[in-house]
Amino acid sequence: MELTTARLCLVALHESDAEALFAYRSDPVVARYQGWYPATCEEALAFIRAQQQVSLDSRDSWLQRAIRRTTDDRLIGDVGLHIPADSGDSYEFGISIAPACQSQGYSREALCAWLGWVFGQLRAHRVHASIDPRNLASVALLRSLGMRQEAYFRESLRLHGEWVDEVIYALLAREWR
Ligand SMILES: CC(C)(COP(=O)(O)OP(=O)(O)OC[C@H]1O[C@@H](n2cnc3c(N)ncnc32)[C@H](O)[C@@H]1OP(=O)(O)O)[C@@H](O)C(=O)NCCC(=O)NCCS
Repeated sequence: MELTTARLCLVALHESDAEALFAYRSDPVVARYQGWYPATCEEALAFIRAQQQVSLDSRDSWLQRAIRRTTDDRLIGDVGLHIPADSGDSYEFGISIAPACQSQGYSREALCAWLGWVFGQLRAHRVHASIDPRNLASVALLRSLGMRQEAYFRESLRLHGEWVDEVIYALLAREWR
């Protein structure tokens, strides 16, 4: 699966991306509200290698794609989709953008294409994202996509050794259209 937008392409991660992936995913700005962050470049490489085995048939798995800027082919982030364990049509997604490339509309652009594919090709009925409510950049991003808050769970996630709140933002296929 490959998607292109005006400035980006969403494609498979390559082993040569390990250093760049490690650099932004381990950056505290990106890792602060995330459950997974690589401690070493080798861990980032193992993550990329594990992704090579994941397909749309891999139930209860995260399918991750590179977000590459077309002008310089630079890896600027990644986007993920959780393939549900059952055959349901409800998917969770997440996105990360390298700090130097944030606030330039890249996430919004990538997710417009990503959600278009999830609702179009995968015929999803519903998508949702789970975020820490202190993650204001994510709240703004999800709202800008028309997503609405559906749930607020108090201290339901353990992140970086502390219990944190979790907010669920969701969108139905008919709302996307
Ligand atoms: C959340 C994140 C993906 C946003 O990426 P981004 O490329 O900077 O976002 P965009 O530039 O596309 O901005 C999208 C919207 O969010 C708003 N926004 C982005 N960062 C913001 C911030 N720090 N504070 C307030 N609003 C912000 C933008 O103004 C924009 O709104 P608009 O369309 O109404 O103008 C990025 O900050 C990130 O990677 N964070 C760390 C990883 C993370 O927490 N991921 C969880 C996401 S589910």
